[in-house]
Amino acid sequence: MAGLPGWLSGALQAKLENISRTDLRASAQRISERYRAGGGSDVIRSEFDALAYAVVRMPATYAAVRAALTQAAGIVPDFAPRSLLDVGAGPGTASWAAIDAWPTLQQATLIDANPHLLALAAAFSRSTSHLAMAAMRDTLAHALGAATSADVVMASYVFAELASGALTGTLERLWSLSERLLVIVEPGTPDGFKRILACRDALIARGAQIIAPCSHEGRCPLATTERWCHFNARLPRSRDHLAAKEADVPFEDEKFAYLVAGKDFGNLARGHRILATPKVDKSAVTLTLCTPETPVQRRIARGDKDAYRAAKRLDWGDAVD
Ligand SMILES: C[S@@+](CC[C@H](N)C(=O)[O-])C[C@H]1O[C@@H](n2cnc3c(N)ncnc32)[C@H](O)[C@@H]1O
Repeated sequence: MAGLPGWLSGALQAKLENISRTDLRASAQRISERYRAGGGSDVIRSEFDALAYAVVRMPATYAAVRAALTQAAGIVPDFAPRSLLDVGAGPGTASWAAIDAWPTLQQATLIDANPHLLALAAAFSRSTSHLAMAAMRDTLAHALGAATSADVVMASYVFAELASGALTGTLERLWSLSERLLVIVEPGTPDGFKRILACRDALIARGAQIIAPCSHEGRCPLATTERWCHFNARLPRSRDHLAAKEADVPFEDEKFAYLVAGKDFGNLARGHRILATPKVDKSAVTLTLCTPETPVQRRIARGDKDAYRAAKRLDWGDAVD
């Protein structure tokens, strides 16, 4: 279970000192209801609301981005980026996951239209010596024209909030701003997957290599099925998160869909992505694997001791040969 790194949860806790938990819960519920109803982050209208977002959503989006980056970094282990552009950055969630995945990062530009979330990102950045952060407070439509390119460009849980007509132009601009990687993370819903699929098709048409989760640049074998490609990140719930959500289970499962597209990475050993929780019983581990043609089931019998032991350590979202 991946929670927030110590420095970030410490910085968040410091911000929560002397804050009324009753008010925090009310704000968190208003934000969650708005997201559930398909609304966006315009519901976050104060420093207090931004804190509520950081308590109820940041740990989950962090866990999702971190899981996606773990998979991408496994495919391109020698990649050592120095610069980052995080669009729709909110409180900087994706940037904090990125510096954990790539400690070589030295500077980041965060763009967001919401001043309260961006101010919280700036406050968090003062708690880490890792990164020099620049903030651009503007809409993507305006800010991307003036943004400079970066080794990694990230768009985490932001495409869902753009008008559908703005997606293609924004994606093209993000791709041109990316020197090496473009990372897109979306909610793990059928709609989130549809947006990821549209991005995948558009980026492949522009010559992108798919670093993860796909093992190829051919047609997505799930595109015409009932199944949608998504993954799960399990994370611990803090006491404040439990209270804000009035939850009693000490963990949360965040479903997400993602795409990591790259430039100039040469030959890649990408394996086959595991598309569901492996089934483990007394006789075998059964994996549902993505292949270029169709998802397939691979059974690893208990009798094959080493392979069975290795398969038991695998999880939904991992890649295998
Ligand atoms: C759901 S939050 C995600 C924040 C952060 N990336 C994360 O993963 O936690 C979406 C963010 O995108 C920003 N956003 C949405 N539409 C935008 C636009 N057109 N221009 C700039 N920022 C935008 C919102 O202000 C908000 O901070």
